[in-house]
Amino acid sequence: MSVRCVRAARENGEEIRQKLAEAGALSGEYEIEAVDGEIYLPLEPDSDPTAIDPDLEVVERDLDRRDSQTLPGDILGFEPSYERLGDIVIIDEDDDDRAHEIADAILESDIPGKTVVNRASPIEGELRIREWDVLAGDGTETVHREFGCAFELDIAEMYFSPRLATERHRVVQQVESGERVFDMFAGVGPFVIPAAKRGAECVGCDLNAAAIEYLRRNADRNGVSDRVTAICADVRDVTGYEGWADRLVMNLPHSAGAFLDTAVDLAGDDCRVHYYDIQHESDPFAPGERAIRAAAEPEYEIEVENRRIVRSYAPKEHNVCLDVRLRRRR
Ligand SMILES: C[S@@+](CC[C@H](N)C(=O)[O-])C[C@H]1O[C@@H](n2cnc3c(N)ncnc32)[C@H](O)[C@@H]1O
Repeated sequence: MSVRCVRAARENGEEIRQKLAEAGALSGEYEIEAVDGEIYLPLEPDSDPTAIDPDLEVVERDLDRRDSQTLPGDILGFEPSYERLGDIVIIDEDDDDRAHEIADAILESDIPGKTVVNRASPIEGELRIREWDVLAGDGTETVHREFGCAFELDIAEMYFSPRLATERHRVVQQVESGERVFDMFAGVGPFVIPAAKRGAECVGCDLNAAAIEYLRRNADRNGVSDRVTAICADVRDVTGYEGWADRLVMNLPHSAGAFLDTAVDLAGDDCRVHYYDIQHESDPFAPGERAIRAAAEPEYEIEVENRRIVRSYAPKEHNVCLDVRLRRRR
């Protein structure tokens, strides 16, 4: 079967295999193939290996299924789509009977997972939470691992998307030891915790008290409590950090624009901003750039260092990120 793979020289294969596995991008459903000095590493659907390393080469290749594994599709006779978050398996199925059939097959199969949930609402409200139908298993709490960090979370209580793993890694790789990082919409800490692990002093703010409780636990669990301050508040009400940040993360894509004045207050003299937005594919970057300029000029000189499509959000709509450098004019 034709599968998306990373092709690499055999001598680099193990290093790249480990990187893909850590990022949750390596598929366990197909055999890895080594041929003529090259290795083919099968990828999970939706994964973006170029965000892990922009030099990775992605190709299509016919690979064998792993014989030893029974997959949900082997039981059902069709391929269901699902994603994994820790030991929770998430499906998106409108038909209730079919959803239960898929959940039973997932539990019977060899894929790791204790709980199967179905999406029961869109992501809604200020806290960006959705409702779930728990089809099998008994809880919505789990521990998800991403690039060497462990995140305790409860999908019924707080936002978390495993699909953003490679994008978060891309941002965190830019963080240097000693930097001051302020995540304005921190959730359970998927930017804050790895940034603190790189030696940054981090503040994570969130309106959701449960998310902040988990962020504190995750700081403990990952051994970075001494470098993480967790604040439960509307970020617009936070005081004491004016002019503080070397780096701001603004992952609240539908409404980050409304928080740009706060971002400018928090920004230090030379500050990187990672600004997430959702826009029509015809002009995905200009609205965010205009909004940033309107909030920060003329006090700051603005340089857009990177314009990136993170993923497709809806038909003709993209989730994008602008990496912007703000330098205070003297
Ligand atoms: C899209 S989630 C991102 C969470 C996290 N950064 C991540 O990548 O998983 C946005 C978060 O912003 C929080 N939020 C919404 N409005 C806020 C506000 N005014 N102040 C602080 N946090 C807010 C929500 O509770 C939610 O956890």
